[in-house]
Amino acid sequence: MKLLVTLAAALGFALAAPAHAQMVIKFSHVVADNTPKGQAAIKFKELAEKKLPGKVTVQVFPSSQLFGDAKELEALLLGDVQFIAPSLSKFDRYTKKLQVFDLPFLFNDIDAVDRFQSSAQGKGLLESMKSRGLLGLAYWHNGMKELSTDKAQLKRPEDVKGLKFRIQASDVLEAQFRALGANPQKMAFSEVYQALQTGVVNGQENTWSNIYSQKFFEVQKTIAETNHGVIDYMVVTNAKWWDGLPADVKKGLSEAMAEATAYGNKIANDINEGDKKRIADAGKAKIQTLSKEDVAAWRKVMEPVWKKFEADIGTDLIAAAQKANS
Ligand code: LMR
Repeated sequence: MKLLVTLAAALGFALAAPAHAQMVIKFSHVVADNTPKGQAAIKFKELAEKKLPGKVTVQVFPSSQLFGDAKELEALLLGDVQFIAPSLSKFDRYTKKLQVFDLPFLFNDIDAVDRFQSSAQGKGLLESMKSRGLLGLAYWHNGMKELSTDKAQLKRPEDVKGLKFRIQASDVLEAQFRALGANPQKMAFSEVYQALQTGVVNGQENTWSNIYSQKFFEVQKTIAETNHGVIDYMVVTNAKWWDGLPADVKKGLSEAMAEATAYGNKIANDINEGDKKRIADAGKAKIQTLSKEDVAAWRKVMEPVWKKFEADIGTDLIAAAQKANS
């Protein structure tokens, strides 16, 4: 036996898995490393491995390398990945409640979004998909959305009439673009650059950090600073897997998640502001600022969309979100 063990060691393989085998945890997301979500995921890995030395290894897969929009939620439920952080617009199939985040011009700014997420109603939403096997562990910020197109004129709602827009898989966003008289097309994030480059769509809506890191600004003519909505994330895990974790691992991962959340949410705004400046400096797309009257015009066309989704979302939830503005 001793000879066999020595032989196995010499050949570089183990006879049996050691009792203290490390748990490999996969975290998959769709954006680049140099974004708020990318940075928070890396921080989570560092913290989790520091808090649970020798117990867990966290592998982060950015840029849809492991799973893209179309597959990540299913993969989580199948146990092929343990953490994902989809944008709040991508949970349509699991709950209608999170549609609240997509209502155009609901939140004045990211601070209001943060206040709502920290409220009892906001926290309650983290648990709203448990019956579907999904448990929300945290909200991660990206930022407010801007609108971009391949046209030189982009200031008023009438400028987007008849144009094709890529949207995330959200019925609210679909209704928002229909209200503008535009043609929305649901599409995975990883396909957007090419669709913009080849003219399959004329435009899209996103944060500065996504517009910069995906190079959308190189294939768009104008980016209007509309701030008409938000792109934020819910970090979700497989509820059954989470419930089955040993207590010490769950505690370490919970602490790492809380600290990574605080870190990521603190730097999100700076990353977006820095990327806005980098886009301006590149001089490829024009950044169109809007007057109060311009913003009011966009709001007037988009806001009626709320009515259509009020019943599904719940008026109480919408009221709680509105309260966070003050
Ligand atoms: C998008 O699909 O436009 C974004 O939600 C991607 C992301 O995760 O920020």
